[in-house]
Amino acid sequence: MRFFVPTDIYVEKNCVKNHAQNMLSVGTRALIMTGKYSAATNGSLDDVTDVLNTGRVPFLVFNEVEENPSTDTLRKAARSAMDFKADFVIGIGGGSAIDAAKAVALLLANPYVDPDDLHKAPNRPLEHAPIIAVPTTCGTGSEATPVAIITNHKIHLKKSIPHIIFPVLALVDGKYLATAKKQLIVNTAVDALSHMVESILNVKSNTFNRMFPEYGLKLWGECKDALLANGNVDASLYEKLMLTSTIAGMSIAHTSTTLPHGMSYDLTLHAGVPHGPAVGYFLAAYTEICAKFVPDDVKKILSLLGLKDIGEFTTMLQNLIGTYSVTREMRDQFAAAMKENRSKLDLVPGKITPEDVDSIYEKSLTLV
Ligand SMILES: [Fe+2]
Repeated sequence: MRFFVPTDIYVEKNCVKNHAQNMLSVGTRALIMTGKYSAATNGSLDDVTDVLNTGRVPFLVFNEVEENPSTDTLRKAARSAMDFKADFVIGIGGGSAIDAAKAVALLLANPYVDPDDLHKAPNRPLEHAPIIAVPTTCGTGSEATPVAIITNHKIHLKKSIPHIIFPVLALVDGKYLATAKKQLIVNTAVDALSHMVESILNVKSNTFNRMFPEYGLKLWGECKDALLANGNVDASLYEKLMLTSTIAGMSIAHTSTTLPHGMSYDLTLHAGVPHGPAVGYFLAAYTEICAKFVPDDVKKILSLLGLKDIGEFTTMLQNLIGTYSVTREMRDQFAAAMKENRSKLDLVPGKITPEDVDSIYEKSLTLV
C-alpha cells in the first residue's frame, strides 16, 4: 500500500497572490496555457500574470487550447515554448488546459519526441519541465494527478498518455467559478463525482487512498441540492466544490478511473459530448453492476451522498445532465471496443462479463 502525491497544493481564496513566491521559484521563463476566453474573463490569467510581472518573470500566453487537446495543438504550443525558451509551464483552466500544459512540459524536456507518439509507451520514464496548475473548473482534478488525457485525431484516439506528470504546484481558488455558467459547474462537478465513485469501485482501492473519496463524497453530497436547484450556485459553495474536485483528483491519482471514464472517451470523440456528462451517463449503471461485487462499498457511496438507492442515484444524475441517445450501431461499436479494453476492465472490483458491459451501455445510452 502506497500513498504518493508530490504536488504542493494550496486550496484557499486568493491563493495565487498568497503564494506568489512559490510560483516565482519554479522557473525563469513561463509558457502559460489556457483556452480562448475563460481564463481571461474569470480573473485567473490576470492573477497569474500580475505575479509574474511583479517577479519580472517573462511569459508567453498560448490561449489556443481546445476542449480535448489534440496532438496538433501540443505541437504548436511546444514549438512556441521552445522558441520562447520557456523553462516552466503554467496551465490555467479546466482539464484540457492543465493536461495540455503537462504534455507540453514533457515535450519541452524531450524535443525529439513527436507529439503524435505521446500515446506510445516510452522505453524509459521521461523527464518534464515543471508545471504549475491553476484550475478554474470544479471537475478535472488534474492539478493533483500524474495523468494527461490527449486526443490524436489522426488515429481517432482519446486516451491518457503513459507518462507520469505531476504538477509541482497547484493553486486552487474557488473564486474562479464566479463567472462559470451553471451547467459548466454541474458538468464538471459530475466529473469529480465520477472520479470518487470510480476510485472506490476499483480494484486498487485501499485504506490509504479511500480516505479521499470518502471525505470528498460527503462534501459533494453537501453541494448536491445546490447543483440540482434552479438558478446559480451560491458563491459560498465555490471553495467546497473546488476542494472536492482536488480531493477527487487525489483519489484517482492512486487508483485511476475505471469503466465510466473508459466508456466516455468514445462518446466525446465520436459524438462531441462534453467530458462530465459523457462520464456521468455511465456512472449509475456501473455502480449497479459493482453492487454485485462490492455491495458494502456501493451502500457507503450512496449513504455519503445522502441517497437511498441506485434508483435515486440514477434520477439525480438524469436531473443534472439529462440522458443521451445514440444509434444502435454506434452503441454496439462502443461496447465491442470496451470489451477489449483490458486497462479499464482489469480495474473493476469483480469478474465483469461481456454481458455486464452490454448492460451498462443499454442502461446508460438510449437509442435514437
Ligand atoms: Fe474525468
